[in-house]
Amino acid sequence: MASRLRLTPEDIERNNNRESMFVLNQWAAEYFQRYMFSEDEGRSVALTYFSSLRGFSDATIHKFGLGFCPSRGDRFSMDALSAGYKEEFLLSTGLALKREGDGRLRDRFYVIFPVHNVSGRVVAFGGRTLRTDKKVAKYQNSPESEIYSKSRELYGLFFAKKAIQQEDMAIMVEGYADVISMHQAGVENVVASSGTSLTEEQIRLLGRFTQNITLMYDGDKAGVKAALRGVDLVLKEDMNVRIVLLPEEHDPDTFARAHSSDELRAYIKDNAQDFLAFKAQLLLGEATDPQTRSEAIRDMVQSIALIPDTIKRKEYVKYCAGVMEIDAETLGVEVARNRDGVKGNREAQDFLRRQQQREYDSTKPSALYVERQPSGEAMQPITGGSTIETLERELTKYLIKSGHRTLVVEEDKKYQDVNVAEYIFSDLDFDSIEFRPGVYRTIVELYRKEWERLGVGVEVPTHLFINHHDPAVSRVAVDLLTADDNYTISDIWRQKEVHIESEEEQLTEGVPKAVMLYKSRVVEIQAAELMSRLHSPDLSEEEMANIMSALARLQTVRVEISKRTKRPI
Ligand code: CTP
Ligand code: MN
Repeated sequence: MASRLRLTPEDIERNNNRESMFVLNQWAAEYFQRYMFSEDEGRSVALTYFSSLRGFSDATIHKFGLGFCPSRGDRFSMDALSAGYKEEFLLSTGLALKREGDGRLRDRFYVIFPVHNVSGRVVAFGGRTLRTDKKVAKYQNSPESEIYSKSRELYGLFFAKKAIQQEDMAIMVEGYADVISMHQAGVENVVASSGTSLTEEQIRLLGRFTQNITLMYDGDKAGVKAALRGVDLVLKEDMNVRIVLLPEEHDPDTFARAHSSDELRAYIKDNAQDFLAFKAQLLLGEATDPQTRSEAIRDMVQSIALIPDTIKRKEYVKYCAGVMEIDAETLGVEVARNRDGVKGNREAQDFLRRQQQREYDSTKPSALYVERQPSGEAMQPITGGSTIETLERELTKYLIKSGHRTLVVEEDKKYQDVNVAEYIFSDLDFDSIEFRPGVYRTIVELYRKEWERLGVGVEVPTHLFINHHDPAVSRVAVDLLTADDNYTISDIWRQKEVHIESEEEQLTEGVPKAVMLYKSRVVEIQAAELMSRLHSPDLSEEEMANIMSALARLQTVRVEISKRTKRPI
């Protein structure tokens, strides 16, 4: 076992490329800041813009790493090349463009808003033009790349996550300037979707920190429309959505600048309304003729049906029936019917789980099996003493729950993001270790097939397992996916102010540990088997030699493992 990760040459290259892009972006962000503060052009153009026009303080400018790229030309690109950065990465990060014809590099940005990912690394830039004519796009954003996917990032999350946890609420706004002005006004639990409608990935990302989202949008029609778009997604994730509308002439940026921190908080507190209630009123307001009215009702029914929580759903049915002046029972039936169409939701999973638990219970031969109830084990943290079954189960859980996510691997003082499934598979493959025949192996093989088909980092749909024709697979999958070790940050936070791990940190800690413990258990079992064969009476010399060399190989693996887990062999 030369390395705990056996990456293919392509993997290594991709990881190196990603790392190079991060490093270049970081360098560029610092370059843009320096340029803005220390060069005449930077000060007169960009600094003036940020401080006089936008009202950002120096502290704010530094915090968000705002900067300026020398006005159009290739000065930045040339400086980057002389600093040793490769053209390849200037292009893949989108920091520079290559001119058709003479093939020369051209800088890309103007006034710079770096975009940080949740761990604070610069993954992209938003460049704002200072031209006022409507023909040029206001913002030029970095292209999608190995390290940046617009739909997966939330602008400002890195700076907001602590406040989001503390307040157990996140305020969602539209733009860069909105986030920054709110921060400066002292409201820090703010993130932006950067002008696109919210995506499921963004909501899940936010869901690591809170279940409560307040949408803060301009009071005009466009703002309301934008708010309406994101919301069904949020409801589906069982989050609580509220909405704050601003006075018509304001957006969050101008509103924050026009008010003190206390006023701002008070406004949010007094004006946040429950989103569905808001929507019901809005739709009803438009609904004069029967046609629009029934469309409005259908719209509401669809939204309500998305809410996984039964009690919450019932409340809404009651409320909306009142507002829309229709019979609550009829509305409830409609919602239930729509609900059947909502696939893969948590309630269905719970139901399935209860049902399967009952089936399982009824097949139990005696009370002796009680301690083997499927969910009992997963709650226990794994240790050196865990059974091989528990360890297989733990790895299976990581795969189907988080296989598409990333963990951070340190090698030679360098940090790399590695895909969880890739980590697990490459490590086990390296030592040619397979799960024992059984339900975990079935699930893992199924996962692997899909994972290979869909590509690294793509979520393998859980319904594949949940709706599997083999009831054992489906029972275990439901069990693992709903295991009660889910990450409930806000609960922990409320109880005691401890350091809170992000999901990535959790995976970084948990996955390698699970792989190591599993491998060392496999090695122990194999060694025990070999030892017992060594004692069989009619052993040929050749067999004996084979066993000895197999044992020697295992011993190397054990040493390797114990070094990493820092525990005696
Ligand atoms: N946006 C973008 N590209 C555009 C316009 C907007 O990416 N051509 C994104 C940016 O993230 C922007 C957000 O959508 O921050 C909201 O757009 P807008 O309200 O127009 O931008 P503001 O940040 O409010 O810009 P400003 O106040 O500087 O005019
Ligand atoms: Mn604006």
